[in-house]
Formats: sequence, structure tokens, C-alpha cells
Amino acid sequence: MSGKKVYITTFKKKIKELKRHNDLYFNKDRPIISDGDYDRLKREILQLQEQHKFLKSLNLFDNFVGSPPTNKFKKIKHLRPMLSLSNAFDKKDMIDFIKKIKNFLNTNNYNIELFCEPKIDGISATLIYEKGILTRGLSRGDGVTGEDILENLKTISSIPKKINGDNIPELLEIRSEIFISKGDFDKIKKDFANPRNAAGGSLRQKDPKETSKIPLQYFAYGFGAIEPMQFSKQSEFLSKIGKWGFLINPLSQIVSSIDEIEKKHSEIDKKRSSLNYDIDGLVFKVNDLNLQKRLGNTSSSPRWAIAYKFSAEKAVTKIKDIIIQVGRTGAITPVAKVEPVTVGGVVVSNATLHNEDEIYRKDIRIGDVIQIQRAGDVIPQVLSVDINKRNNKSKRFVFPNKCLCGAITKKEINKNTKKEDAVRRCTKGYECRFIAREKLKHIVSKEALNIDGLGKKVVDQFWDLNLIKEPSDIFKLDYKKIKGLEGWGNLSIENLKKAIHNSKIISLDKFIYSIGIRHIGQENAKILAAFFISIDEFSKLSDLKKREKILSNLIELDGIGETQIDSINNFFSNGKNIKITENLINQLNISKFLSTSKSGKFSNKKIMFTGGFKNMSRSEAKSITENNGGKVLGSISKKLDFLVVGNSKPTKKKIDQANTLGIKIITENEWEKILNS
Ligand code: IVH
Repeated sequence: MSGKKVYITTFKKKIKELKRHNDLYFNKDRPIISDGDYDRLKREILQLQEQHKFLKSLNLFDNFVGSPPTNKFKKIKHLRPMLSLSNAFDKKDMIDFIKKIKNFLNTNNYNIELFCEPKIDGISATLIYEKGILTRGLSRGDGVTGEDILENLKTISSIPKKINGDNIPELLEIRSEIFISKGDFDKIKKDFANPRNAAGGSLRQKDPKETSKIPLQYFAYGFGAIEPMQFSKQSEFLSKIGKWGFLINPLSQIVSSIDEIEKKHSEIDKKRSSLNYDIDGLVFKVNDLNLQKRLGNTSSSPRWAIAYKFSAEKAVTKIKDIIIQVGRTGAITPVAKVEPVTVGGVVVSNATLHNEDEIYRKDIRIGDVIQIQRAGDVIPQVLSVDINKRNNKSKRFVFPNKCLCGAITKKEINKNTKKEDAVRRCTKGYECRFIAREKLKHIVSKEALNIDGLGKKVVDQFWDLNLIKEPSDIFKLDYKKIKGLEGWGNLSIENLKKAIHNSKIISLDKFIYSIGIRHIGQENAKILAAFFISIDEFSKLSDLKKREKILSNLIELDGIGETQIDSINNFFSNGKNIKITENLINQLNISKFLSTSKSGKFSNKKIMFTGGFKNMSRSEAKSITENNGGKVLGSISKKLDFLVVGNSKPTKKKIDQANTLGIKIITENEWEKILNS
């Protein structure tokens, strides 16, 4: 080899090595070398380039973004949670959104004014100003706790570090979306999958100097805490902060009818490709901040806003095979393995076929030419089959009636509709190894035990190596064995140990959510935790003798119905579930549920409603009661303090029951009087 060639080979090798470490750090969250080693490697590359100028002309290292592996950022609790948005995909969804708002507010008389803004496809960050000075900058994190990325945010020159203007609130929290322009992305695109990843990567650099190398931009779109509050409309808020020097999106506008919504949606959709930043839809927000407050949030998203997505990107490809996947609840999902095709900038090789009925309805067969679509981050789906391109020897797909584990599968009968479910499910639980593995992925996820560095791929790897077979194994990992594995070094092992250790302290609601009882999502887990309060009480569900009594008490909880109770019963009727749950409990330190119940006029009061109200919807009455410290029950019981009877169609049976039990019955007006007393 000539001298020059040797240098090129060494140079390429080192760059490849650096890229690998970037990938481990950025994408896999598993750095395997120390900061120092990483810096050394980077310096060697730069030195080589300096010493041998011809290497520079290869342009291999140009614009290459690197970052020393780090131990991440300091975690800080948000002043107000950073929620996400629910989605609308068509006019009907938008009509529904408005209808729900009107129902909640119990009004039909006027058009609700909405403020429409482009939904920027970037990374959200929140900026906190105290007396006009930028003092904190956080990433979204899990919505409750974010990461301290202040120094990196400060490198974005258009973000005010000090606000100039009059009437600046003492405390001002600006929610914003950080992004990289399409033009700037073009220059660095070889290192990242898409602009969003690039922005995320840049924001997460430990060294702000690295962040400053990628030209980030932002738009401010909302607020968290403001003290004192001085705004009454979203439009007013944005125009004011615009005057204070924040960048706000110029395409925003007030709309107030479904026709205007549709018009704006198609207008911006047409403009979309000519914008210099990625947007994936429009956000519609109730403009009046008082109404926003009345509407409040569900557990994950505000009732007063929605993201109206643009139609998905489509592509044509061919089905190579149809395989079956088993989810953590046993749902059997058919997946089409397709010839790789690029849809909206992402290479797709799998598409979901949803369920058995869908395959039969569309008569989807192996070998078919199909159209697929990919919307946002969701798994691409098969839209249609081109029958004309079908090989006449192709056969109908026969859906297997057994799970991959060999157990029989069943379609359940939906309790409400009395119809057979479309989804076929494995009849086993942890006994099915496919379900067991998926349950583990759920348990380590962000909303559950939240173990950084133990992602889905690692769970698969550890499962295959028999390192983890049930949740409690996570806490007994054989690190010596892991150390010998490709891609695992001292640093990543230390980080994993730390993350696992940190996950041991968990609140009861998160624990209940983590064990993955079907139909018990985050919201229901909170309701149950507020009922059980401690893990000892919750554990009594394992005891057959006590279970029946407990379950009969659960029915009074608003939000918990027959479906949930049956599911809890099923879960605890299975000996293996009980054993696995006990093993897990033994590894954890589960804290009592601290009810966030606010003090207020209904503090410690248990209330039930029957009949419609004159002045507001039942949902709003419920939300007001809860915000004032009360608990709303779903059925009459001795524990009730009040039965509030609205004047429109109250249930006579409930009033009779309340009378028999000697429960105080009050009217809507009396309820309001207590509230305003
Ligand atoms: S409002 C309570 N407005 O979309 C949530 N969000 O899925 C209120 N986003 O985390 C969000 N542009 O990062 C809002 N004009 C806009 C937005 C926007 C982008 C992002 C934001 C948020 C996510 C919600």
C-alpha cells in the first residue's frame, strides 16, 4: 500500500469508529467509552487532517457532528407538566373536537374561537424567565421531569436571554419548538435520519459549543407558568411575546368555523413543501384562556387543543411475507414484510395489517402489490391492494388460529357492543414467552419503570441470552456476562446499573401501570392507586378470599367499570401473574400514593352526580369538584357525602338508594353555593 493509502485507511477507520460511538450515544443511549477517550479519538482525526491536507479534501470529516458521551443532563421537575396533543386526521375528527368542547362547556349558542398554528416538527423545550432573565431551559423529558439544557438553548441567538419591554411578568415560562431549517439540514444530512433527529442530537450535546455548530431555530407557541397572569387570549399572548422579542410563527390565525378550519388546513398543506421547516399538521387551540382553564386536561393532553395532521405520505411496494406478532396483551397482529421503500424520507420494510378481519376484508395476499402509508411516528399501514397486478396463482392468506407459542387464540366478545372483537388474542399470559417478552418492554418503558439504556432492543438481547425472563430479573442482572457482550463497556454498564437502581423507587400508581394489567392505563392506575394508597393494600388482590370484596368496592370508583374489574380479576386469578408480581414487589421500594387532591371547598368530600346540570356539563362539574379537593364516585355507596341532583333527567333509582342510605341530597344550586362559599 502506498503511504497515502495507509493514511486514508487509518483516517477512514477512525471516522467510522467515531460514528459508531456517536450512534451508541445518540441513538442507542449506550456510550461505551469515556469522555476523555472520545475526545482523544476526535483529536486524532483532526490532527491527521491537519498533518495530511489531502485527507481534508476527501470531505469525510466536514460538518461531522460529534459529542463526547456523557452522563446526560440534570433532571428538573417542570413547573407545569408538558402534555402532548391528541390528533385529528379529517374533518369529522375536527367536528368531533368542537362538539366535545361544546358539550363540556354545555353550550351550543356561539362559535368557539380557535387559534390555529402550524405544528412544527421539532423538539420541544421550555424557557423560564425570572424577572425577565432566562434562568432555566428544559427539554420535555417524560412531561413531568425535563433535562436541564439551558446552556445549549442559550447558544440559539434568537432566544432572548433578557426580555426588554414593559409589564414583564415576574415569572414567565415560554414553551417552544426547536428545529433545524431544511436548508441547514441539507448540509449535515449524512449524519442524521431527519431534521428532527438532527435538532434533538444537537440539543443533547454535552458541550454547548457543539450545539452552536448546528444552526438551531425556534418558534414560541405557548406558556407554562406565568405570574402574575396578564393574558386572556392565546392570540394576545403570542402577539405580546412577539413584541418582547420572541419568534412566533407568522402563519398563525384565528378561525371560528369548521369551513375556516378546513380552508386553513388545505391552504397550509399546499404551502407545506415551500416552507423552510418541517411541519406535520396544524394545532388548533381554544383562543379564550378562561375557556382553556375550564376545559382543563385529560391525563395526557389538553381538552382545548388538537393537532390536525396533514395526510400521510404514501408509497407502492410488494408484500414479501406476512408474519404474526404478539403484543403484551396477547393481541395477534399480522405484519406485512414488504420490499423496502422510502416513504416520506424513511425506509419502510414492515407495515401493519391490523388484524385478521382487515386481511380478509381487503383480501391481502403474499406477493400482492400494495399501497402503504406512513403518518407521523406510527407504524406504516397497508391501504389497498392492486388486484390487477396480482399473480393468478396467489392464494388467500390463512390466518393462523394459534399463537406463536402454540396456545389457542380467541376473539373476545365486547361487553358494551356484545359483538366479537376484531382482534384475536393468545389465551395465555406470562406463560406465553412472546407475551412475556413484550410485557418486559412495557415495564422498562418511560411511563413505567423508566429505565434509561434498557430499550426494546436490549430487552430482546437480554431475553435471548436468558438474562431477563421476568421483571424481577432486571434487578439481578449478571453484569459480568453483559460485559462480555459486543457494544457494552464499563461506562454503559455503570449507566445501566445506575438507571436500574434509580427505578427501584416508584410510586404506587406507576407500579400499577407497570405490571401491565389489560385496560389499566396510566389514568386508571392513578384512580386505583388513590383507592389502595399503599402496596400492602393493593397486594391483597392476590388473596382470593379478600379479592371479591375489594373488587366489589372498586365499582364505585368513577372511571373504573366492569371491563376493568374483570381484567383485574383475571390478572390476579393467574398464579404465575401473582408470583411474578410478588417477585417484582420484593425488588422495589413502592411509595404510598400521594393524592394530589387539592385543598378546596370539597376537600375530602365524596360526591356523586345524577341528571344534567343547567349551567355546565357533568364533565365540567366533575372536573371542578376534583380541582376543589373532592372525589367523584360512580355509584351510590355509604361513603358518599352528597348526591348532587341536576334538574334534567336524574335517575330515580339513585335518589331512592341515597334516601335509603341516608345520604345528603343537594341540588345543582346548592352544589354551586358550596363552591362559591
Ligand atoms: S401546543 C399541551 N403548539 O407538538 C400541549 N405544540 O404533541 C400543547 N408542537 O410537545 C402543545 N408546534 O412540542 C403546540 N404550535 C404548536 C406546536 C406544538 C409543535 C409540538 C410540541 C408539543 C407537541 C404536542
